Amino acid sequence: MPDPRPLPVPEWIDRTRVPTHIAVVMDGNGRWARRRGLPRTDGHAAGEAALMDTTYGALAVGVRALTVYAFSTENWRRPTDEVRFLMNFNKGLLERRSHELHDEGVRIVFSGRRDWRVPRQVLRRMDESRSLTEHNRRMTLNIAFNYGGRAEIVDAVSRLVADGVAPAGVSERAIRERLYHPELPDPDLVVRTSGEHRISNFLLWELAYAELVFTDVLWPDFRREDLFAAIEEFQQRERRFGGLDR
Ligand code: IPE
Ligand code: IPE
Ligand code: MG
Repeated sequence: MPDPRPLPVPEWIDRTRVPTHIAVVMDGNGRWARRRGLPRTDGHAAGEAALMDTTYGALAVGVRALTVYAFSTENWRRPTDEVRFLMNFNKGLLERRSHELHDEGVRIVFSGRRDWRVPRQVLRRMDESRSLTEHNRRMTLNIAFNYGGRAEIVDAVSRLVADGVAPAGVSERAIRERLYHPELPDPDLVVRTSGEHRISNFLLWELAYAELVFTDVLWPDFRREDLFAAIEEFQQRERRFGGLDR
């Protein structure tokens, strides 16, 4: 299915300064559901439309990488039923959407730990989506699943040690090369929905100089217009990277 809602990109977006990589903390599903008197899991299900519309919006403006936080290493603390729902939901989402994303030229990759808690069926779907789309070049959709920023750094350091790197060889570059997706540039912009102003263990290494944009919109209500508004805010920021004007 092609973009079901093809909209022109607003002319106030400066197409020469679109963030290369946007990362999104998709938060607020539970509150969205609670406000409607629905079970929390209905909020997760409603997030699928938000994810697809946001992806189409990112494609339309020419974003090269979109990283979305789907399940954190801390989310295992939730009730078993909700965790089980999220596992099945993400498996179903890949089943329902991989081909559509493939047709749009999206490369699907994952960041996170493949540990014993992730059901084998889910891992299988992840592998299938990744290999189906591995040659696509238009945009990378990086799904952070069973992802923790600290876990990612720990895993990188563990590989550093396994690779026999000597103390003098430990550098930012040596660590960066061992992150889950060293080929992706650091995110330029992070968007967090639902009015929470925290990072919640997302991309701790990669966010060193990202611009942060927070919105009160709950994730299931988020649409490409909200992404465009975040890009507009990004374009009004002055990035310095520790220096003076660039
Ligand atoms: C984000 O929505 C989805 C996941 C963390 C998986 P929440 O489930 O955190 O929703 P709130 O924050 O409770 O509203
Ligand atoms: C962050 O949201 C994780 C995801 C969106 C997957 P949480 O809802 O888990 O974060 P906290 O608990 O509010 O910090
Ligand atoms: Mg939350």
